[in-house]
Amino acid sequence: AAAELEPYQHYMQKEIFEQPRALADTLTDVVSITPELFGDGAWRHFKDVDSLLILACGTSYYSGLVAKYWIEAIARIPVQVEIASEYRYRDSVPNPRALVVVISQSGETADTLAALRHAKALGHSHTLAICNVGSSTMARETALAYITRAGVEIGVASTKAFTTQLASLYLLTLALAQTRETLDDAAIAARLQQLRHIPAAVQAVLALEPQIISWAQSFTRMENALFLGRGMHYPIALEGALKLKEISYIHAEAYPAGELKHGPLALVTSAMPVVVVAPNDALLEKLKSNMQEVRARGGVLYVLADAHTRIENSEGTHVIRMPEHYGDLSPLLHVVPLQLLAYHTALGKGTDVDKPRNLAKSVTVE
Ligand code: AGP
Repeated sequence: AAAELEPYQHYMQKEIFEQPRALADTLTDVVSITPELFGDGAWRHFKDVDSLLILACGTSYYSGLVAKYWIEAIARIPVQVEIASEYRYRDSVPNPRALVVVISQSGETADTLAALRHAKALGHSHTLAICNVGSSTMARETALAYITRAGVEIGVASTKAFTTQLASLYLLTLALAQTRETLDDAAIAARLQQLRHIPAAVQAVLALEPQIISWAQSFTRMENALFLGRGMHYPIALEGALKLKEISYIHAEAYPAGELKHGPLALVTSAMPVVVVAPNDALLEKLKSNMQEVRARGGVLYVLADAHTRIENSEGTHVIRMPEHYGDLSPLLHVVPLQLLAYHTALGKGTDVDKPRNLAKSVTVE
């Protein structure tokens, strides 16, 4: 391995373990919540906004899906999230009062950039980029920008860019809640305080690596995997499946757990591991019955159980418990073991983890 990688074997592994630092850096200049975090004049834009249109691709699209749950629940603004390459070729109905948010690690992804230009051509003037590269085309072509400080991401599989996007989108949620007065100052300050604890919380999750390695040993032998989540953890299930596909070449699909009986349950056998993102929220009881549906068909469960949930190891049910419960911010924690699972499974299969076949780090062509 290159000297700069020490003590890691791959950039992806290094980038997974850099997340506490990347998150702390992304929050470092945030003294308090104000729209101006997103650029001069942001208040004027936010005041006029009646909805959000989030455009992105791949992992960045999944961070947008998580943000939809946060923004609608906390700031009470309707949010539409769309795959950039679909939006640009569709005859959509423009709403000039929508805040168009493009999310991109590179800020150069051709489809996302074209979607932004398409939105502007349709008359959208409230535009915001969430990018990891301050000098990128996307950051230059939007009225507002928030630059994540993940640092250079080399592994094709995006990891630290994703969690720093989530942190930035949570800041956006709080700034919108402030403008819309859906939260008072004390509540905003309390939520910001919780966000500041996230680097330490992610650090504690990284310590679960040995348990994830033992899961990965079984995954290396599998040809398919199913990921289930509910609510704001559904996009985390999608992200877990994408990571596994990209670098281990195992076919993986994600479903919102309630959809299981509407089709994918037919696929469940003992050869289909089912990863369950099980947060400690209102949907937990529902999720438990989805898990029973899987067990009844001989499916083996791999459950990322939240702290304070009563899901125990048993025959065919492997449980890893998260160190702490984190409320709305829990997607940031639950994604980390899924990144590690994909990484260690790929390692077991001997694939080229940092440069998986057929993929490029930035997709700058259509
Ligand atoms: C993620 O692991 C991918 N390699 C890919 O989906 C990526 O997130 C997508 O191409 C978008 O890239 P961007 O964030 O640089 O725009």
